[in-house]
Amino acid sequence: MSKLARQVWAEVSLDHIAHNVRQFRSLIGPGCELMAVVKANGYGHGALETAYTMIAHGTNWLATALPEEAVRLRRGGITAPILVLGAVGADELDICVAYDLAVTVFEPHIARLLSQAAVAQRKTAKVHIKVDTGMGRLGLLPCDFGDLVELVQSLPGLEIQGVFTHFARAEDEDLEYTAWQWERFCRVRADLAARNISIPLYHAANTAATLFFPQSRLDLVRVGLGIYGMYPDTRRPIDLKPALSLKTRVAFVKRVPPGSAVSYGGTYVSWKETSLAVLPIGYADGLSRGLSNKAQVIIKGQYCPIVGQVTMDHTLVDVGDLPVAIGDEVILLGSDGRLEVSADTWARHLGTINYEITCTLSSRVERVYV
Ligand SMILES: Cc1ncc(COP(=O)(O)O)c(C=O)c1O
Repeated sequence: MSKLARQVWAEVSLDHIAHNVRQFRSLIGPGCELMAVVKANGYGHGALETAYTMIAHGTNWLATALPEEAVRLRRGGITAPILVLGAVGADELDICVAYDLAVTVFEPHIARLLSQAAVAQRKTAKVHIKVDTGMGRLGLLPCDFGDLVELVQSLPGLEIQGVFTHFARAEDEDLEYTAWQWERFCRVRADLAARNISIPLYHAANTAATLFFPQSRLDLVRVGLGIYGMYPDTRRPIDLKPALSLKTRVAFVKRVPPGSAVSYGGTYVSWKETSLAVLPIGYADGLSRGLSNKAQVIIKGQYCPIVGQVTMDHTLVDVGDLPVAIGDEVILLGSDGRLEVSADTWARHLGTINYEITCTLSSRVERVYV
């Protein structure tokens, strides 16, 4: 029996990933390490498949949110250093040590348990300690930070590889808040230096800070969004190429008279005779229902609007008088070389950000690497 190939797929361009990595590499220069953030299955692009390309083109580190994401990379043969950015549970520490994953630490209890796990396995556990300078999420506040670093230093089996923070608003045009966070981070660094504590890697910058707040690049930058070819706002200081296209094929076409109601609830009614194409993709694939009667797709070099409610498995587009047939290729996200539908466009329709668009493409959508 031949392999089942679904009629919906996400094409991921490894050439574009490589291009984007090279762009960041040349921006940050040789003195700065590049950490590619591949959490959430590489922002929906496929973590393992893209990681090999990233490493081949100058990425030094990978970062995941979860230990299990990092373990999948190790089992897939990735030997590059990996930092787990999220909060690691007590029952996940053994795995982190066994798979040589650097752990984010921001409180003493987990530091002690990690030390015990490392000693028990006769290994050294790598640690990056996180300070909260204004994001308000994971991380110890700067006032208590020096003591935590001293504690971690004193625990057996632990090696501090880095100290880091995360910016909350580096994509804003007004960088006042980022500058304030930066100042707090600089004070943490000065405090550690005053305690004679030397840290191999200080890091702070995400994609936006790497692009718009260059002083924060320090020893390493943690780039997610930009590596996949998306920008944090409308400014384009370097040339990035979107790596992901979402495609399908027309499943059915029919000619309908004026006054035909389309899909659940009849939220669209044709106002003239027209052709409707049925696409075999729906919200279960990540084509959000919020795009109903809003987004457009590209068929045969033309934009065609999505009409009526997007359903779980099907979506309708009004193709007018275009000669569209079953099996014709449809671009939902991506470009045909002339027209483009970007994750930013979908994000605007949905009142969200481009990150959410690629991350929420479901596992039903096959990723194809080109
Ligand atoms: C701690 C941390 N660093 C870096 C990143 C990468 O951010 P971006 O995708 O904006 O580059 C993230 C992503 O959310 C993060 O949580």
